[in-house]
Amino acid sequence: MKLLVTGATGYIGSHAVLELLEAGHEVVGVDNLSNSSRESLRRVEALTGKAVPFVQADIRDRGAMAAVLNAGGPADGARAFDAVMHFAGLKAVGESTEQPVAYYENNVAGTLSLLDAMESAGVRRMIFSSSATVYGDPQSVPIAETTPVGSPSNPYGFSKLMIEQILRDLAAADPRWSVALLRYFNPVGAHSSGRIGEDPQGVPNNLVPYISQVAVGRREALSIFGDDYPTPDGTGVRDYIHVVDLARGHVRALEFLVNAGVGQTDPSGQSPRAAGDQAPANCPVWNLGTGRGYSVREAVAAFEKASGRTIPVRVAPRRPGDIAACYADPTLAREQLGWEAEHGLEAMMRDAWRWQRQNPQGYEG
Ligand code: NAD
Ligand code: UD1
Repeated sequence: MKLLVTGATGYIGSHAVLELLEAGHEVVGVDNLSNSSRESLRRVEALTGKAVPFVQADIRDRGAMAAVLNAGGPADGARAFDAVMHFAGLKAVGESTEQPVAYYENNVAGTLSLLDAMESAGVRRMIFSSSATVYGDPQSVPIAETTPVGSPSNPYGFSKLMIEQILRDLAAADPRWSVALLRYFNPVGAHSSGRIGEDPQGVPNNLVPYISQVAVGRREALSIFGDDYPTPDGTGVRDYIHVVDLARGHVRALEFLVNAGVGQTDPSGQSPRAAGDQAPANCPVWNLGTGRGYSVREAVAAFEKASGRTIPVRVAPRRPGDIAACYADPTLAREQLGWEAEHGLEAMMRDAWRWQRQNPQGYEG
């Protein structure tokens, strides 16, 4: 298949491009490079021996997106795109509370302009990067897809919730569309080559990049945000998932949409509603997680073991908006996609460390 990947130079996008190429698909990448480096895709090309045409463009630029999508069409003598994998977006939770309009503009308005461009090119299949943040503070764990979405604690989370709703409404209105909503838990780690990985700008917000930078000597100590949660050791529990497993989940979701003929076959002209809930059948939702939760202290211990380095820690107050525990019930993806995470915490930390050690300053180093 031929895919347009937005956010292709980013952390998850670059790993997904690699897995798509390895699975035999063809990819064109788009990114505005606001939070990533062009170098990531060069490395993907080197690792796979395959070319990835890249267009530096903003998803809010409808004309530019339509041009890319139409240039992939038969009128151009090329093969038409089969789908868009949509990773582009801003993702810093704290920043989103300071600049809510910029987040809604970039994420929500950007997605609307992309959808418009897709419609104009007749490309009506999308795999969307959502987040477990849409569940808000869940009543219980593990979290299945049937858990009602909650109230995210920040504009970033709301932008994901809004986009999900837009995509559900679109799928319900037009049976030709097929959309997969993939709710990620906590993506960590890097490709086993150590050539591509997560390269946050400035001070990392997320746990594993922060630990990695402490290990490599860029930061002094990790602040543990609260050790008085109702969890076994008092620190927050999360479902960390290896980014390569996550990327493979996208390939499976794409294949599901195509092979199950989702959005293509309904003769009645109505989008079928899934039994028992409001989600149209041409807009499936899958959690991408391992189903296992680990605490901050367990994550630190696993990183220390993988790196052979001591990570100094200090206990700090809870971070506003954090919840005690969040982990997936990954059964649906296993049953429907035949997908499950293969890498455990040790492999996640080993690969995060290999990437950090080989690229102490990230791509620009
Ligand atoms: P990332 O910042 O590394 O990648 C996002 C990419 O999108 C960047 O390369 C950035 O330059 C690009 N981008 C942003 N706005 C754009 C725009 N208007 N036009 C074109 N390109 C634009 O982040 P990531 O971790 O790879 O996340 C990918 C997607 O997954 C995001 O939508 C994010 O919200 C979602 N997600 C990430 C996590 C996580 O923990 N990393 C968890 C849940 C969901
Ligand atoms: C965060 C976002 C969430 C987003 C996800 C993936 C918040 C409130 N939530 O989730 O919306 O979808 O990233 O990008 O930011 N921790 C520390 N010290 C640190 C960093 C983190 O103790 O320096 C702890 C946190 O309190 C948490 C765990 O580590 O218990 C994981 O944190 P993090 O990696 O930031 O992910 P989430 O908070 O789960």
